[in-house]
Amino acid sequence: MSSPKQKTYIVEHLDPDLGQWSELEYLAIAKETHAAQGTFLLSSLPTAFQVPPALSQVPAFKPERRGVEELYAADKSRVCLLDPAASRDLSPDDGDKFDVFLFGGILGDEPPRDRTSELRKKGFEGRRLGQTQMTTDTAVRVTRMVVEDKIPLEKISYLDFPELKFNDHESTEMPFRYVKGQDGKPVMPEGMIELIQKDADKSIDDLF
Ligand SMILES: C[S@@+](CC[C@H](N)C(=O)[O-])C[C@H]1O[C@@H](n2cnc3c(N)ncnc32)[C@H](O)[C@@H]1O
Repeated sequence: MSSPKQKTYIVEHLDPDLGQWSELEYLAIAKETHAAQGTFLLSSLPTAFQVPPALSQVPAFKPERRGVEELYAADKSRVCLLDPAASRDLSPDDGDKFDVFLFGGILGDEPPRDRTSELRKKGFEGRRLGQTQMTTDTAVRVTRMVVEDKIPLEKISYLDFPELKFNDHESTEMPFRYVKGQDGKPVMPEGMIELIQKDADKSIDDLF
C-alpha cells in the first residue's frame, strides 16, 4: 500500500529552550509545510513551553507535548528519521514508503556532535541527505523536494558553506549546506540574515 500524499514533518525538540534562530527555522518549516498542505509537528515540548504567536498562526503547525516514540508507538514503519549517519540516502521512492519524516530539533554545530543519535536509539528507519550538515529547515526543505516533488537528491542545486557579506568589511561563512534559490543565494528563513548579523556584531562587541 502506498503512503498518504500529505506528509507530516516532525521536529523533535531536543534543545532546552527555543532560541530566536530555531524560532525562525520553525516558522519557515511551518509556512512551507502549510503551502504544501502538510502538517508540521513540533514534538516533545516541555509543559511550560509557550508557543511563539507567529508560529501558532500557521494552520499547518501543531505543538505537541508527547514525543515521537509515544505518537507512533504502534506505527514505527511509517516514520523515516533523517539521519546524517544513516547508510542509505533518501530517494523519491521513500515518499511511497513513509508518510512521516522526523528531524532533530537541534541547532547545527561544527564539528557536528551527532545529537541525532538521541533519535536513532528509538529505532526508526534512517535516511541520509548526503554527507554535508544542513540546517534543520534546509533538511526539511530538501526532504520535501525529494519525497513530494520527486527530485533526486543529487539533482538539487546546493550552496555549501556560503559566505554572507553584510558590507565591505563584514562577512561570515555559514558551515552548512543550503538549497540554492532562484536568485543564486542560499534559501534561508525570513529574518535569518539580520539575526546572524546581529549575533556577529554582538560577539565583536563582547570582545571589548
Ligand atoms: C542542524 S542538524 C543537526 C546535526 C547535528 N550536528 C547533530 O548533532 O546531529 C538538525 C537535523 O537536520 C537533519 N539533517 C541535517 N543534515 C542532514 C543530513 N546531511 N542527512 C540527514 N539529516 C540531516 C537531521 O534530522 C538533524 O537532526
